[in-house]
Amino acid sequence: MAAPILALRGVNKSFGPIDVLHDITLEVHAGEVLCLLGDNGAGKSTLIKLMSGVHQPTNGHIEIDGATITLPTPRAASDKGIATVHQFGGTFPLMSIGRSFFVGVEKTKGWGPFKVYDRKGANDIAVKAVRDFGITRIDDGDRLVGGLSGGERQSLAIARAVHFGARVLILDEPTAALGVKQATHVLRIVNEAKRRGLAVIFITHQVMHAMAVGDHFAVLIRGAVAADFHKGEKTREEITDLMAGGASMASLEAEIEIYMNSHGGHPPPPAA
Ligand SMILES: Nc1ncnc2c1ncn2[C@@H]1O[C@H](COP(=O)(O)OP(=O)(O)O)[C@@H](O)[C@H]1O
Ligand SMILES: [Mg+2]
Repeated sequence: MAAPILALRGVNKSFGPIDVLHDITLEVHAGEVLCLLGDNGAGKSTLIKLMSGVHQPTNGHIEIDGATITLPTPRAASDKGIATVHQFGGTFPLMSIGRSFFVGVEKTKGWGPFKVYDRKGANDIAVKAVRDFGITRIDDGDRLVGGLSGGERQSLAIARAVHFGARVLILDEPTAALGVKQATHVLRIVNEAKRRGLAVIFITHQVMHAMAVGDHFAVLIRGAVAADFHKGEKTREEITDLMAGGASMASLEAEIEIYMNSHGGHPPPPAA
């Protein structure tokens, strides 16, 4: 197999006396979705901040295409093709779709003092980029980002990252705040990014979402990789249990389901 696009080798991260990540070794390959699973506080966001140049490892190192590198700033990470899309798409609600697409990379026409923002050109490129990802409901680049649904906003941010040459796409809980239909859109786009050969790091709490797109899974518990496995190697129940740190969540879920089936769909009352 080719060298991973991105790898962490024996990475530790401490903030003063607090050890947040312990001896993390993880590889991300082109054309593969790595799902990073773990409970709140497990260290998922800290891990992606190391990959995106926000934090530096305390020990260990990062590799890109097999070569050791440092990512001293978020700019350095994006120059290496590592793009991070935050939960709400990281876009600007009061900006048009075309405008927001080119924030920081303003598309201008003309030259020198006559440079003007090329509204139509920007709109055409942005709308095409999003439509190429299968979001055909977006057809007007003058629409405000704030008028898009959560899933459309995520899609716009992902299409933008891919358009500007991202090789690694990091998605921090992209489906957490979305309804089923919206989440399905985002999952479809994750698959499309993978089909185009990107490496995707997909962070989620939702095992079903992870299983829908993941090729490779890592479960983080209290800052350590508690399990690292590939598609088909574990069942949904096993993954759910792992995420809960061994407590039998899956059997609890099954009990609740049995209760609800025999009680007209009502959940059990809280334990006294
Ligand atoms: N800058 C920081 N300084 C001190 N502790 C931090 C800092 N950032 C995160 N932590 C701690 O690291 C742990 C993991 O946090 P985080 O990476 O946000 O977890 P997750 O994203 O999995 O919920 C938490 O206990 C959090 O309080
Ligand atoms: Mg987090």
